[in-house]
Amino acid sequence: MAFFIQTTLFLAFLLACCSIQADADTKRYQFDIVMSNISRLCHVKPIVTVNGRFPGPTIYAREGDRVIVNVTNHVQYNMTLHWHGLKQIRNGWVDGPAYVTQCPIQTGSSFTYDFNITGQRGTLWWHAHIMWLRATVHGAIVILPKAGVPYPFPKPDLEQEIILGEWWHKDVEVVEQQGRMLGVPPNVSDAHLINGKAGLFFPCVDTHTYALQVEQGKTYLLRIINAALNDELFFAIAGHNMTVVEIDAVYCKPFTTNAILLSPGQTTNVLLVANQSPGRYFMAARTYDDTALPLPFDNKTATAILQYKGIPTTVQPIMPKLPGPSNISFAMDFNAKLRSLNSPKYTANVPLNVDRNLFYTIGMGVNACPTCINGTQLTASLNNITFVMPQMGLLQAHYNGIKGVFTLDFPDNPPTTFNYTGAPLTANLGTSLGTRLSKIKFNSTVELVLQDTNLLSVESHPFHLHGYNFFIMARGIGNFDPAKDPAKYNLVDPPERNTVGVPAGGWAAIRFRANNPGVWFLHCHLELHTTWGLKMAFLVEDGNGPEESVLPPPKDLPAC
Ligand SMILES: *[C@@H]1O[C@H](CO)[C@@H](O)[C@H](O)[C@H]1NC(C)=O
Ligand SMILES: *[C@@H]1O[C@H](CO)[C@@H](O)[C@H](O)[C@H]1NC(C)=O
Ligand SMILES: *[C@@H]1O[C@H](CO)[C@@H](O)[C@H](O)[C@H]1NC(C)=O
Ligand SMILES: *[C@@H]1O[C@H](CO)[C@@H](O)[C@H](O)[C@H]1NC(C)=O
Ligand SMILES: *[C@@H]1O[C@H](CO)[C@@H](O)[C@H](O)[C@H]1NC(C)=O
Ligand SMILES: *[C@@H]1O[C@H](CO)[C@@H](O)[C@H](O)[C@H]1NC(C)=O
Ligand SMILES: *[C@@H]1O[C@H](CO)[C@@H](O)[C@H](O)[C@H]1NC(C)=O
Ligand SMILES: *[C@@H]1O[C@H](CO)[C@@H](O)[C@H](O)[C@H]1NC(C)=O
Ligand SMILES: *[C@@H]1O[C@H](CO)[C@@H](O)[C@H](O)[C@H]1NC(C)=O
Ligand SMILES: *[C@@H]1O[C@H](CO)[C@@H](O)[C@H](O)[C@H]1NC(C)=O
Ligand SMILES: *[C@@H]1O[C@H](CO)[C@@H](O)[C@H](O)[C@H]1NC(C)=O
Ligand SMILES: *[C@@H]1O[C@H](CO)[C@@H](O)[C@H](O)[C@H]1NC(C)=O
Repeated sequence: MAFFIQTTLFLAFLLACCSIQADADTKRYQFDIVMSNISRLCHVKPIVTVNGRFPGPTIYAREGDRVIVNVTNHVQYNMTLHWHGLKQIRNGWVDGPAYVTQCPIQTGSSFTYDFNITGQRGTLWWHAHIMWLRATVHGAIVILPKAGVPYPFPKPDLEQEIILGEWWHKDVEVVEQQGRMLGVPPNVSDAHLINGKAGLFFPCVDTHTYALQVEQGKTYLLRIINAALNDELFFAIAGHNMTVVEIDAVYCKPFTTNAILLSPGQTTNVLLVANQSPGRYFMAARTYDDTALPLPFDNKTATAILQYKGIPTTVQPIMPKLPGPSNISFAMDFNAKLRSLNSPKYTANVPLNVDRNLFYTIGMGVNACPTCINGTQLTASLNNITFVMPQMGLLQAHYNGIKGVFTLDFPDNPPTTFNYTGAPLTANLGTSLGTRLSKIKFNSTVELVLQDTNLLSVESHPFHLHGYNFFIMARGIGNFDPAKDPAKYNLVDPPERNTVGVPAGGWAAIRFRANNPGVWFLHCHLELHTTWGLKMAFLVEDGNGPEESVLPPPKDLPAC
């Protein structure tokens, strides 16, 4: 008996020892930022890449792993990388938005992003977080569950990342600059891409179509990422339904759909069963555009091919039926189907009491610009404030107590109330400028209602919060009603994400617990709008003691 107990203890010790070792895996990557000539759509052009690859390399890790990425900048641009959706607990130094959590990595320099992946598993992505460089500098992050932990859905036979992107024939930095100099929206993109390729409806397709080979009867997990700069995208596969099982690296209640919608920044994992008659089927992605203004947008369809094994490539693929570009009801219905899994193992810890209520209006504006084409420039604001980027990292300024870099007076409510989504307002569209942050108490619960307005025009805005996931309590069209709308909140299993689509002429209410101290960026993930100032930052205070405080900065943190 004693022998038995001893053996059991010994075995338990062995298991404990080895599972700790498995959890403490370190994954190392070398990311060289280089210019590479890439040929797409009959154009050869130099673009900024990581290791010469477009899209860039995938980071593979398991929940609990430590990831060390040495980023060395060999190009003329300043560079930072953001690990989109990773919480970086107390470790904002490696979050990446330029001048928010760090000064950029300058030409010829390196910075090592060293972080742990704690309590997260699923599909996320990394991208440049300075200027518009993320157009070509991006890649997937695949976080597998801890060793031996199964998915809460049928095990797929194979997994594949599907990265949706946006392509300009011209240098994307030249496009951005032209827009900024003229004060008007820059040229829209020339194509969308699926895993870096535009597909059959463009010239020079031979080497530029992505194909996924499948076998009849097998199940595939597609890890789909919207890495586009400015376009929300529908995605569908001809003849096949998809089962959505995860959004933004959070498991959700599975549901079946013939098309999905992703805003820039969002990720969606779907199960695809190759159960149709063996053939060739297009996968396709196209813009969802719900602005009221007749502005130009990239309406081109990117395609890839779902290729059943053994079918000759001469067979013409079938095209899926994508929702129309302005099908708002599809978008609302699709988003309404998203719910957290909320199982005993993966609970949705929805804050039920709110310590701090925030209400931010999203507005388009027009400010004076003597050098611009008609003396004005388009701008954007939250609570009528157009955010001005500082000259040094906000997190450094906060940590080191450097004064004069920002103020802590970002208002909890807009300066004026009006019929936000009423008739378009086209007069007095000026905004105020400032580097104003909102101070949040450690571990307090925050509700933020993001309200679109019809200043100039309504438009949908995917808002991304760094350092946190949040729960989407509800979304609606029209003006948020604080008396009636909270009754519609899903307090049980709301979707948990890092990026929420605020509907055009509508609102979204989100909640989170501010248990990650630091300076965390909140911004529209349409890069055009970020450029126009649709951004702000939260300063989440330290709690009690070192375990609830921002970690000391890494030694090689770049200086400005
Ligand atoms: C790209 O191609 C151009 C023209 O052939 C060449 O001048 C340039 O050096 C190449 N750049 C790189 C980074 O290979
Ligand atoms: C990062 O990479 C650069 C270039 O390869 C190298 O010089 C540097 O020593 C590396 N840094 C670390 C911390 O490994
Ligand atoms: C990552 O985890 C390791 C092991 O628990 C710990 O020593 C290290 O401080 C953590 N790093 C960060 C940045 O939290
Ligand atoms: C934008 O489009 C206009 C009209 O097609 C063209 O003249 C201009 O060169 C383009 N600018 C850039 C930066 O691509
Ligand atoms: C896809 O789902 C719809 C609705 O549930 C169903 O009507 C249709 O038959 C399904 N299609 C396939 C190919 O399974
Ligand atoms: C976009 O393309 C679709 C399909 O080709 C077409 O039905 C629609 O009218 C186009 N919309 C615009 C605004 O060009
Ligand atoms: C929007 O999409 C849904 C579902 O695909 C479809 O039933 C509906 O007819 C579409 N509406 C419009 C206006 O195209
Ligand atoms: C500014 O100039 C552009 C280009 O000429 C024009 O399309 C636009 O209507 C003008 N906008 C305003 C607000 O005057
Ligand atoms: C706001 O504007 C909308 C659209 O013009 C209108 O239907 C609504 O009655 C207005 N609401 C208020 C409170 O004035
Ligand atoms: C925004 O601020 C500007 C500048 O102070 C002011 O002229 C404008 O009326 C304000 N607009 C709103 C909607 O509050
Ligand atoms: C934050 O508050 C919650 C609810 O009061 C509590 O359960 C939790 O322990 C707190 N966390 C920290 C780190 O203080
Ligand atoms: C790069 O960053 C440094 C430090 O912030 C700044 O002084 C410099 O002007 C930037 N260079 C470019 C090309 O933007």
